[in-house]
This record gives sequence, structure tokens and C-alpha cells, in this order.
Amino acid sequence: MARIMGGVGTSHTPAIGAAVDLGKTGDPYWVPLFKGYEPAQRWMAEAKPDVVIMVYNDHVNAFDFKIIPTFGLGCAEEFPIADEGWGARPVPIVKGYPELAAHLAQSLVLDEFDMTIVNEMQVDHGLTVPMTLLFGSPPQWPCRVIPLCVNVIQYPAPTGHRCYMLGKAIRKAVENWDEDLKVVIFGTGGMSHQIQGPRAGLVNAPFDKAFLDGLSRDPQRLVRIAPLEYLREAGAEAIELVMWLIMRGALRDHVKEVYRFYHVPASSTAVGNIILENAPEGRASKGARSKAKIAGTAAKRGARAGAPRTAGKSRGQARKTK
Ligand code: DHB
Ligand code: FE
Repeated sequence: MARIMGGVGTSHTPAIGAAVDLGKTGDPYWVPLFKGYEPAQRWMAEAKPDVVIMVYNDHVNAFDFKIIPTFGLGCAEEFPIADEGWGARPVPIVKGYPELAAHLAQSLVLDEFDMTIVNEMQVDHGLTVPMTLLFGSPPQWPCRVIPLCVNVIQYPAPTGHRCYMLGKAIRKAVENWDEDLKVVIFGTGGMSHQIQGPRAGLVNAPFDKAFLDGLSRDPQRLVRIAPLEYLREAGAEAIELVMWLIMRGALRDHVKEVYRFYHVPASSTAVGNIILENAPEGRASKGARSKAKIAGTAAKRGARAGAPRTAGKSRGQARKTK
């Protein structure tokens, strides 16, 4: 069975890619940002996924305004790097996984998500910058990548709730794939930013931090954030954050936050990174464990007060979940 071992949320600010490509990572402006991603790179080097599902948005590079799919699933063998105006980034070509992508397309469409099947597509900074941030600059990417391209460019973008539910359907599809594969899913973009107009440069750090907290502990709160609320509170481009909810939906209800980093600014963007792991199979989350502990303590109290033995038994069972 393929399984999603964890999720990565990260900004995809194009200036980060330019800093790497132009050898500026040691500049004082960039040092704190790249330092902040070092633990994430170490996590990824240990995780060694076979496949990455990269949820990102195209910025009018693969698609122009003639056709804008809400959810475009990259089903090609490979995905060339887009030239965004100053030459393609010097990063390896992205190798896809057409068989698994076709399975995802089938499963998601049968689950009533109307995916657009994309058999030819160039990928822009939305995909390549997260790859660079998490994998560094190897001669070839160490895993296959299935791009999932979400429209957040032209109104209306999908809601956070729909994105979250799509994530759940992705997890089901992955778990029904009969091959032992380790999968990591990314949600990219954000965090708060507005790149044009009178509010250009807007950053709302409390909003961003609450979003990171919500991913970790209360995604149900995040799925209720209305599209206009992202725009109003955190800038027009903050709507990119709905893509992080696809990543979150693809994980179990209870996750372990293994890393978090937040930095302002990179270009005009607040940069965030979070890494969430599914709690290991058969092991309850910390929240559930502490509930079990509380139940155990209550049972102990009950036992002292002469409660029936079954209370003690349930305490034993609660322990097993540790
Ligand atoms: C910027 C950030 C983005 O996410 C993006 O897609 C384009 C530009 C920026 O901050 O400059
Ligand atoms: Fe973007």
C-alpha cells in the first residue's frame, strides 16, 4: 500500500529561487531564511519519499487566461521548467508518475472531484521553489512528483473546505494504490502577502501564526475561513493558503507537528514552513493520548472509590494506545 507519511506547507516566493540560482543565499538579507529551512531539509533527507504530490498554483505560465482549470492534475511523464521571463530556472526537469497520476484522476473523479487531466505542462516557481527549499540543489530530483495545480489566480478560487475534502480523497486514493510507496504531500504558496495595489507589502503575522496553529491543532477552524477573509485579512495573494488545506486534508485527523518556521519578509511575502507527520499506525495522537490518560486517572479514582473492575480494564486499554 502507498501511504502519505507527512505533509509540508511552504511558501513559494519566486525571489527565493532567484536567490539560490544567483548565488545570493549568503547575503545578510537571505541568511535567516535559508537557515530556517535547514531542519526541513534534514527532515526530507531522512523521509526519502518515493513520490511527492505537489499542490501549487500556476502563475499564468503553463496556462494563460484562455483556460484556467480549478484543479489540474499533472499526468505527464515529465514536466519541463517554465521560462517566467528571465529564462527557465536551472533546476532538474521534474519527473512525473503517469500511472499513479492516472489512478488519482480516476479515484478523485469517481469521488466527484472534477479534475482536469493535464498531459503536458511546464511548471513554474510555485512548484520549483518548494522543491529547492526542501531538497536543495541536487543534479536530479530524488523522487517523482505529481503536480496538482489549483486556481487561485482568477476569481473564484475553490473554498478551503473543498480543498480540505479533496485532500481526504487524495489520501484515500493513495492508500488504495497497491505499491509500497512513501508519499509526501506539499501545500504551497502564502503566507500573507499582497504584491500589488495600495496594500502591496501587507503582512498579517498574527493571522499567519494562527493559520499554522490551526493546521497543527484545529483544521476545522481553518476550513471555515471564507475566500474573501483571506484577501481582507492577509492580502490578495493569501488565498494561496487554501492549497495548504489540501495537504492538511490528506493527513490523518491527528498529526504531529515536527517543524515550524516563520520569517518576514522575503520579497513582499511572509514566509512560512510547517512539517506535519501522521501519527504512526495504531498510535493515537498526543491529544487522544492525553484524553486516554485523563480517562485512566478517572478510572483510578473510581477504583479507589470501589468502582467495578471494568473501569480498571478500560484504563488498561487506554494504556495500550500509548
Ligand atoms: C511573490 C510571491 C508569490 O507567491 C508569487 O507567486 C509571486 C510573487 C512575491 O512576494 O513577490
Ligand atoms: Fe504565488
